[in-house]
Amino acid sequence: MLLIKNLRKTFQNGTKALNGVNLKINPGEFVTILGPSGSGKTTLLRSINGLENIDNGEIVFNNRKIDDNYLFYVQKKTGMVFQEFNLINNLSSINNVLSGLLNSSSKFLSMLYLFTREQKLQALQSLETVGLLDKAYSRTDQLSGGQRQRVGIARAIIKKPILLLADEPVASLDPKASNLILSLLKKICKEFNITIICNLHQVELAIKFSDRIVGLLDGAIIFDSQTKNIDINYVQNIYREENAGLTF
Ligand SMILES: Nc1ncnc2c1ncn2[C@@H]1O[C@H](COP(=O)(O)OP(=O)(O)OP(=O)(O)O)[C@@H](O)[C@H]1O
Ligand SMILES: [Mg+2]
Repeated sequence: MLLIKNLRKTFQNGTKALNGVNLKINPGEFVTILGPSGSGKTTLLRSINGLENIDNGEIVFNNRKIDDNYLFYVQKKTGMVFQEFNLINNLSSINNVLSGLLNSSSKFLSMLYLFTREQKLQALQSLETVGLLDKAYSRTDQLSGGQRQRVGIARAIIKKPILLLADEPVASLDPKASNLILSLLKKICKEFNITIICNLHQVELAIKFSDRIVGLLDGAIIFDSQTKNIDINYVQNIYREENAGLTF
């Protein structure tokens, strides 16, 4: 469903964030990207849905190369989940979920009351999927971190994406909530056949929930393996500072 070829990204200040990434993601896969801070995980996700301009290489989404004309469709079909949830905190859960139907949140406030009954039902359905129907009319700043992330997921799935990009979705959550969020993402992946690429720092969670794990270091892929074939000690090596820069 996604083919990334020789992807390179250098920021204006000269930082080389991605140094020739090649990656093929199959439909319905739950792929985790593991890698230390600064390895390029966020840049990779943001490049896929056009939030970063790439200098070199190409990204093929459902058999078509992404260009300016195709990007709108790609963004429509791609949901995003963030570490800090990115909710509008003084709004209810249902209104936050409805915002997932719009292209930008700046237009959102003025359009808040223009959603159809059908769209509101869709939002309630998304909240039901994440187990939060009873909080539909609660303000999101009155919810726990785990509940807020569930609203974030409901907002991402309301537009029925075929790809979900999750950038460290559990980084600000405790272990129990982290497990819950990742089980939920896995359920969404398998039940709705939504392909998921998830950036994580926790090796154990990656092994527990993903089909496949990709290791990123200094903007390059250093391993790419089905989870069942992975050796935990080997994976943990990428977090050992003394190994930074070495080829595995
Ligand atoms: N807007 C930017 N301008 C300049 N450099 C940037 C920018 N965004 C990221 N970088 C640099 O690009 C490299 C990759 O950053 P990125 O945020 O993709 O890493 P990451 O793996 O997501 O890290 P973390 O685990 O801390 O979130 C880093 O060296 C970072 O400093
Ligand atoms: Mg990041």
